[in-house]
Amino acid sequence: MTKILVINGPNLNNLGRRDPGQYGSMTLPEIETAITERARELGVEIAFFQSNYEGAIVDYLQQNSGGADGIVINPAALTGVGYSLGDAIRDAGLPLIEVHLSNIHAREEFRRHSVIAPIAVGQIAGLGWRGYLYALEHMTHHLREVGPA
Ligand code: DQA
Repeated sequence: MTKILVINGPNLNNLGRRDPGQYGSMTLPEIETAITERARELGVEIAFFQSNYEGAIVDYLQQNSGGADGIVINPAALTGVGYSLGDAIRDAGLPLIEVHLSNIHAREEFRRHSVIAPIAVGQIAGLGWRGYLYALEHMTHHLREVGPA
């Protein structure tokens, strides 16, 4: 079965409590439940990972990309500065979609620049928690139509 890694970066473990005006009121476990339900409908398998440490995400990608077909990631504050994360994604050789709950292009300048976007299939920003579902849906179509990276 097609397997997609859904990865969340620093501070996203605090969703629900953290700036709900920007990020909404759903917790990460609630979002993961919604993703799991959508994945069941789409017939794909999901593995979730969240860390506040860039190196832990690099370790996770090194250890788990071999058995996976695609990546959906919210790199959070690593978006603009996560060079080792970007290299790990390149090394993984898997198609990736970048997700942001908030519209990073309508916020502070530093949030707009992404070192991940140039190696992504595409970016979803500002659509809240449903952005993860749209990313999953698109990744499923992408893998079926375009094939693996
Ligand atoms: C975020 C936007 C980032 O700028 C911020 O650092 C986050 C969350 C989002 O989902 O909107 O932690 O990636």
